[in-house]
Amino acid sequence: EKGTYPHYMLKEIDEQPIVLRKIIQEYQGEKGGFAIDASIRKAMKNADRIYIVAAGTSFHAGLAGKVLLEKLANIPVEVHVASEFSYNMPLLSEKPLFIFISQSGETADSRAVLVKVKELGYPALTITNVPGSTLSREADYTLHLHAGPEIAVASTKAYTAQIAVLAILAADTANEKGRKLPFDIMQELAIAANAMDVLTDHKEEMEKLAKNYLHSARNAFFIGRGSDYYVSLEGALKLKEISYIQAEGFAGGELKHGTIALIEKGTPVIALVTQEHVNYSIRSNVQEVVARGANAMVISMKGLEQTADSFVIPKVQQLLTPLISVIPLQLLAYYAALYRGNDVDKPRNLAKSVTVE
Ligand code: F6R
Repeated sequence: EKGTYPHYMLKEIDEQPIVLRKIIQEYQGEKGGFAIDASIRKAMKNADRIYIVAAGTSFHAGLAGKVLLEKLANIPVEVHVASEFSYNMPLLSEKPLFIFISQSGETADSRAVLVKVKELGYPALTITNVPGSTLSREADYTLHLHAGPEIAVASTKAYTAQIAVLAILAADTANEKGRKLPFDIMQELAIAANAMDVLTDHKEEMEKLAKNYLHSARNAFFIGRGSDYYVSLEGALKLKEISYIQAEGFAGGELKHGTIALIEKGTPVIALVTQEHVNYSIRSNVQEVVARGANAMVISMKGLEQTADSFVIPKVQQLLTPLISVIPLQLLAYYAALYRGNDVDKPRNLAKSVTVE
């Protein structure tokens, strides 16, 4: 039930800190370890490469997860859009492990790949919010998102839950391989949950920014570098789905290779700045679009902020910033859709689970 909330989407955005704490609790093991099944641990350890297969928002969570798995567990990871994988199958490594990420566990495009992978005899793990779902039943292993039912068509809390579970899986695999982690993942996730509380408590600022930047926008661009780029893709998808504003997410450095031609006076460009090593370069991309008349909204992380930035998010571990930086983008999409009088929870042409290929 959505209770006093006007929309499920807003309720689900607000639930993200609660879900993150639930995940911490569910995956907390004994003696500082993690509650992950020994069979999954073994499959992760045996794999020489991981293939993440997913669609839409879950694909975007997979991109953020790739960074965590590679940096923490030192396993090469490829992330593929499910609907492309079967027709354009990459060369596989000797010992691949497939990870299917799906909120519903029913996405037909992902299932088609799972069927093929099982025919080929490769191991598969499904990360889903619905443990009894098709993708969960047909895979060898399942990890549960514990996000609770997600009703709004636009996915929000499932995305952050997916990233959190991938972070824990990456940390667990690092432990198994005897790799020393540079930080305590559960502690950093708890800090991220507190940061989420701060963001969901300051919605009025995003409401104002949505009004100023997106009220009458025809199009919008999201830019970032590194994991900020992956979150930009998700921010653009959220905005498209519910506000119907044409939006694209870009790697900051790619803009000048074509897209910058679209920047006109007043074009909204939303830039994410949470990664210290690219702070300088993404800010020069912002300068480039501002010089061409763009209406730039810079969302930066505490410690990297400049006085002219539009919004500053609390500081969290550098590898976990997607959990936090996505929240202002979810809220921007929500308020932009509201201003435009759209049906936020049931956008046109979309279904909650896409069970056709
Ligand atoms: C976006 C959205 C879709 C889904 C996609 C995959 O807000 O909801 O892009 O993420 O259809 O769905 P699942 O995760 O159920 O496989």
